Amino acid sequence: MKRVLGLLLVLLLASLGVVSAAPAGRVNVLCSPNLVWCDAIKVEFPKATGIQLDYVRLSSGEAFARMRAEAANPSFDVWFAGTGDPHLEAVELGITEFYRPKSWNDLRPEFREAVGGKYIPLYAGILGWAQNERLLKEKGAPVPTTWKDLTNPRYKGLIAMPNPNTSGTGYTMLATIVQIYGEKAGFDLLKLIHRNIAQYTRGGADPGPLTGRGEIGIGVTFLHDAIDNILKGFPITYGSARDGTGFEIGGLSLVKGARNRDNAITFIEWALSPDGQRVAAELGQSYQIPSNSKTPVPRVAPRFQDFVMIKYDFLKYGKASVRDALIKKWSAEVFALPR
Ligand code: F6P
Repeated sequence: MKRVLGLLLVLLLASLGVVSAAPAGRVNVLCSPNLVWCDAIKVEFPKATGIQLDYVRLSSGEAFARMRAEAANPSFDVWFAGTGDPHLEAVELGITEFYRPKSWNDLRPEFREAVGGKYIPLYAGILGWAQNERLLKEKGAPVPTTWKDLTNPRYKGLIAMPNPNTSGTGYTMLATIVQIYGEKAGFDLLKLIHRNIAQYTRGGADPGPLTGRGEIGIGVTFLHDAIDNILKGFPITYGSARDGTGFEIGGLSLVKGARNRDNAITFIEWALSPDGQRVAAELGQSYQIPSNSKTPVPRVAPRFQDFVMIKYDFLKYGKASVRDALIKKWSAEVFALPR
């Protein structure tokens, strides 16, 4: 009886506008940037919209594999960030669907064009490495300036790079070297680099702290991640290949068959707004170039004009057949070799 009276009271108050309507629901996000940024959106998005956000953090390659495995019954509504190549593959395979956000025309046209308008660009980041100059000096090894330099036997046991199977950063390195040198010479170079590898990491941001702690001398990573490490006080510098370096255009994708589709769309619109994008640098310790031209570019963000950039062919290297084959080949012909 008491419960019925309680319910009637709530209904009466609701009809008078005294209590608010039902909560705005939730959105399940597959989150691929650093954890701090994922934590920050978990707090900021509900503040802005009243929608609860839950996330799981997985590196780009792992996130893609998880979504592919559960495509028939997706548990996520939206895939937030991560390198663009697997976002392209996901849309090609029908795991995600293209959604055109209201802010589409505010997104940097060069980013939209580079990915053929096939997914939503969220940011751009430049590939390079963190370097521990003190350790390199101690080992009598020079500071590298090219991808070819990384084959120098003096670096044996001194390099970490992310595994292209799990990490979008690792795949960006693989695809960059293949684009510069061609597949045959590129793989020969990767085999020589492999001899020097102390550790293949799961995530793209992992080699920076290893370099900072002096466990290795060179850690391949995106430059904004190295900058985050430097700002946290790690004694490293960063460098990038003068024989050319690749970059990412991080993605934002609506999962096909999303259970909370409307909330996913609200999230996408928010994540592209200057207020949503500011969260990256201000709270998320992430210093990429944001895609919305109205979002301020973080002061410390690396700029394209300061590096030797290749014309990264996203449409080719984000193709399912090309990406899958390259990763398979790298696993069989490079990773499997003794070192
Ligand atoms: O830490 C942020 C970041 O570098 C993003 O810019 C990038 O999209 C993502 O991590 C790549 O991570 P991973 O290499 O682990 O897939």
